[in-house]
Amino acid sequence: MPDKEIANILIVDDEASVRDVLKRALAEEGYNCAVAVDVESALHILSSSPVDLVLSDIMMPGKSGVDLLKEISARWPDIVTIMLTAVANTRTAIEAMKLGAYDYVMKPFNLDEVRLGAERALEKRNLILANREYREFLELKVEEQTVELRETFIGSMKALAEALEAKDTYTNGHTHRVTEIAVAMAREKGLPEEEIARIRLAGQVHDIGKIGIPEEVLRKTGKLTDAEFDLIREHVVLSERILKPIIKDEEVLAMVRFHHERYDGRGYPDGLAGEDIPFGARLLAVADAYDAMTSNRPYRPAMTPEKARSQLLAGRGSQFDPEAVDILIEAEEKMSFCPISAAPAGEKRPQSG
Ligand SMILES: [Fe+2]
Repeated sequence: MPDKEIANILIVDDEASVRDVLKRALAEEGYNCAVAVDVESALHILSSSPVDLVLSDIMMPGKSGVDLLKEISARWPDIVTIMLTAVANTRTAIEAMKLGAYDYVMKPFNLDEVRLGAERALEKRNLILANREYREFLELKVEEQTVELRETFIGSMKALAEALEAKDTYTNGHTHRVTEIAVAMAREKGLPEEEIARIRLAGQVHDIGKIGIPEEVLRKTGKLTDAEFDLIREHVVLSERILKPIIKDEEVLAMVRFHHERYDGRGYPDGLAGEDIPFGARLLAVADAYDAMTSNRPYRPAMTPEKARSQLLAGRGSQFDPEAVDILIEAEEKMSFCPISAAPAGEKRPQSG
């Protein structure tokens, strides 16, 4: 922000004597002064060099000082303008103030009055700029804190999701592994980093809605009733509902909501099919199923990776997006996702994870 010493003043007047007197008087005060003989040359200077204050005559050959003022207000609203006017034009000067001029000085002018007017106009300009800078600083601060707060909330959600499954030895680490597998698949596919970040976040919180499902249903070892299945199916909608106030990224929310949709349209909650299911959700579905199959569950032991792969291939194009299955198999060959070791077999029941 310019102070008095370095403020740049443009003097616009068709009379050489006026320009000279003003330039000398203001230069003595330490201002950088430029002069223009008419509006056209003033506009040229304004376009090519920094100007803080314009002192402009009103009546000039060609365009008037009021024309110049309008142009300045539209193109350089931070420049402050003082009009120079003959007594006969006082009314025009007052009109000019209505159009945004800061002040007017009457000719023949007293130089002290001009100096004081320039000083006050520049002070006012500096105040406006300082205010704006402060407001922008505050807005930035608020934005930073909002982002920070949101990240804290998201961090809490991730912690909650982990705590939720940590209580259950069978699902412990499932969220973490699903996330790792889905991220590895996204990398295998060559997705951009911002999309990978979305898939990672969706993976970390996709099952948070299970917090709203009774534990006896989640941990039931026997066959689930239809009503219990309906309850489990609720978890995707609950996940989305819990996350919506915190996660503003609609794509992440969609991945969470649709991670149990099936490629053939027989999944839940909305029965979307094929390409209507967001790609991230199709990746998560395959990663989720693979980890569930290679993990022990109360109702069955873990499958070997080979068996899990053949199960995925069996569901390729029906339950699962064929591309997502191929990607997982490709990625798995390179990374060898670690399955959980086998456990005693229990009663079989369909996947609900
Ligand atoms: Fe799930």
